[in-house]
Amino acid sequence: MTIGIDKIGFATSNYVLKLNDLAAARGTDPDKLSKGLLLKELSIAPLTEDIVTLGAAAADPILTAEDKEKIDMVIVATESGIDQSKAAAVFVHGLLGIQPFARSFEIKEACYGATAALDYAKLHIEKHPDSKVLVLASDIAKYGINTPGEPTQGAGAISMLISSNPRILAFNDDNVAQTRDVMDFWRPNYSTTPYVNGLYSTQQYLDSLKTTWAEYQKRHKLALKDFAAYCFHLPYPKLALKGLNKIMDKSLPQEQQDQLRKNFEASILYSQKVGNIYTGSLFLGLLSLLENSDNLKAGDRIALFGYGSGAVSEIFSANLVEGYEKHLSQTRLEELDQRQALSIPNYERIFFEEAELDAEGNASFSGYEEQSFALAEIAEHQRKYIKVEKSS
Ligand code: CAA
Repeated sequence: MTIGIDKIGFATSNYVLKLNDLAAARGTDPDKLSKGLLLKELSIAPLTEDIVTLGAAAADPILTAEDKEKIDMVIVATESGIDQSKAAAVFVHGLLGIQPFARSFEIKEACYGATAALDYAKLHIEKHPDSKVLVLASDIAKYGINTPGEPTQGAGAISMLISSNPRILAFNDDNVAQTRDVMDFWRPNYSTTPYVNGLYSTQQYLDSLKTTWAEYQKRHKLALKDFAAYCFHLPYPKLALKGLNKIMDKSLPQEQQDQLRKNFEASILYSQKVGNIYTGSLFLGLLSLLENSDNLKAGDRIALFGYGSGAVSEIFSANLVEGYEKHLSQTRLEELDQRQALSIPNYERIFFEEAELDAEGNASFSGYEEQSFALAEIAEHQRKYIKVEKSS
């Protein structure tokens, strides 16, 4: 029996910040963002859009009524939780109408959480082959105005339906993880934005990649030649490019090196327009690869490198399943181009707006007509979500 990703979906917000505009406003050379970070645009989420609405919007279009009967576990991986106690997965479970006898919970380790969630889902399906697990990687990456991380913000969610006999990717049982207790990026409970040791975080990312990859190759007797593509966590694509350069085996035939580089280019297309979505970034890269590469085929082995500051990293691999391309979208880039561009003052107001609650903990919101799901109000400190009805 194979276990892996049977369906994959993605949702982002309806607003976009063009990085040329940000560069002009901050007095930065636009090449620093387009060439130095390899970024073009960022998705900007308003107050009515959060990890719950994005997660539900990513999952809703990929799930059938039969899936909702078979899902017995919903995991939301996130760094940007909306409640210290109640899991976002419980809200999503309700919004999607998943059968009640399911386990729903949240998982956290910065940008690494979704990688752990996938392995837990795999173990669950091993025991319960007829069931399905919904894994959501949902985050809003907010560093703050005029910070070094500002051009690497973003918002979005990836949904993955994990099952036996999957139709897109079959996991190999080869995960190798590494934990190191470092303070490269962290967010105390009292802060809405992270504290970042920027250069140190990039060093930790690259060193975790190098050492975990060495251990992976040793344990599994595999090398770069065995892979058609390598997906990386994408805090911003330039760092992942440095990662690819670090692990590139110059003794490989030029043709294979070229294939790995072409597939890397395909894997960063969505992130270049969405920005960092923390724990979903690796899987946004995977989705971008699968939907834009012109050289992949069934049976190809793809490596995935997850990294979450703090820090936990993991490398694992999956093989493409015959017919995988039939379960993907061809219109994702065009859809991203339909987002509404924001001026700098509007970006600064919309992205950093906080709910203004009255003395009883109430606030109601508007302007979410274009969203699929929305945070419509907070009533006595309870978040109230709705599925937005579309007028035809
Ligand atoms: N034209 C072309 N390139 C230019 C340029 C210009 N005019 N000016 C600068 N650059 C290049 C620089 O040479 C540099 O490239 P190299 O790295 O190849 O040298 C690149 O642009 C970035 O410039 P700086 O080194 O000056 O760095 P910065 O001030 O822009 O900060 C950063 C970079 C520290 C990563 C910052 O974006 C940041 O703090 N980001 C948030 C933290 C982060 O993403 N860390 C990644 C690892 S942690 C992780 O992975 C978890 C996570 O998701 C957060």
